[in-house]
Amino acid sequence: MTFPKTRMRRLRRLPALRKMVAETALSPSDFIMPYFVVPGKGIKKEITSMPGNFQMSVDVLLETCEELCTHGVNSIILFGIPSSKDAVGSEAYAEDGIIQTAVRELRKKLPDLVVCTDVCLCEYTDHGHCGVIRDNEVDNDPTVELLAKMAVSHARAGAQVVAPSDMMDGRVGAIRKALDAADFSQTIIMAYSAKYASAFYGPFRDAAESPPQFGDRRGYQMDVRNAREAVREAELDLAEGADIVMVKPALAYLDIIKTIRDTCNAPVAAYSVSGEFSMVKAAAARGWADEKTAALEILYAIKRAGASPILTYWARDAAIWLSK
Ligand code: PBG
Repeated sequence: MTFPKTRMRRLRRLPALRKMVAETALSPSDFIMPYFVVPGKGIKKEITSMPGNFQMSVDVLLETCEELCTHGVNSIILFGIPSSKDAVGSEAYAEDGIIQTAVRELRKKLPDLVVCTDVCLCEYTDHGHCGVIRDNEVDNDPTVELLAKMAVSHARAGAQVVAPSDMMDGRVGAIRKALDAADFSQTIIMAYSAKYASAFYGPFRDAAESPPQFGDRRGYQMDVRNAREAVREAELDLAEGADIVMVKPALAYLDIIKTIRDTCNAPVAAYSVSGEFSMVKAAAARGWADEKTAALEILYAIKRAGASPILTYWARDAAIWLSK
């Protein structure tokens, strides 16, 4: 049946009709809000390249999370900026490390909040790479051992979800094994499975003070030209025991989200990264885009592609926008 019998505009005439036939919905429970924690007290330092996002000390983080929950966002992911860095990222797996301390406090104060932790060494190493270095390269297997140690220390502090973002081979299996051996068989692994070597991480590296001091991450993160390889990564992570697979970044990788959604039956998370956020913020500040409309359009697109949960710096704002 074609025109004039079929008129596609019939269903678009009224807000209520558009809502009735909408194929995609977003809710605050889709979102995971990223936060950056620093040592100290009373610290709330805005990240210049990510307006509205802050490096926070644990006390400020607690208040911020409490407020976040009032908007229906019940999940966060934490990144730590340690007081000192070294070649092997010792602070990453220290029992009194910044993340371990933050998680313990959060679980005490907000027991219903889902606390995810980023498991990666780049914020903790003085060279800024995601593992230990041998002959100018990240040495895979010794790094995996440290990541497993880090994940267990996060679980011990109370993290319900550990999220390895390092892109080492075999890390999911090693983390699962270490968690189970330490009696954390219920700790969830959300694997950054298809994490691309992306230009969109720039603002995050300011926020986490983690840019690599030499070279780049292309020896371990994925090549932007590849899609089939992403499916292999996701399948391997699931075989090794991942509960959730993640695609990162999101906006430039909607095809990857869709493909993994169609080929794997596990939940597919997507990380709308710092550069995606800052790009819109910068344009909005110049009056070149409307932040709310652009942000929701991006988040709907990510959901439509098949991702949930969505890790996004708009989690709080989007929850507020959606409730209006
Ligand atoms: C740590 C990590 C990074 C991000 C999340 N975990 C940075 C990187 O790989 O350089 C990026 C998140 C963002 O840009 O918002 N490896």
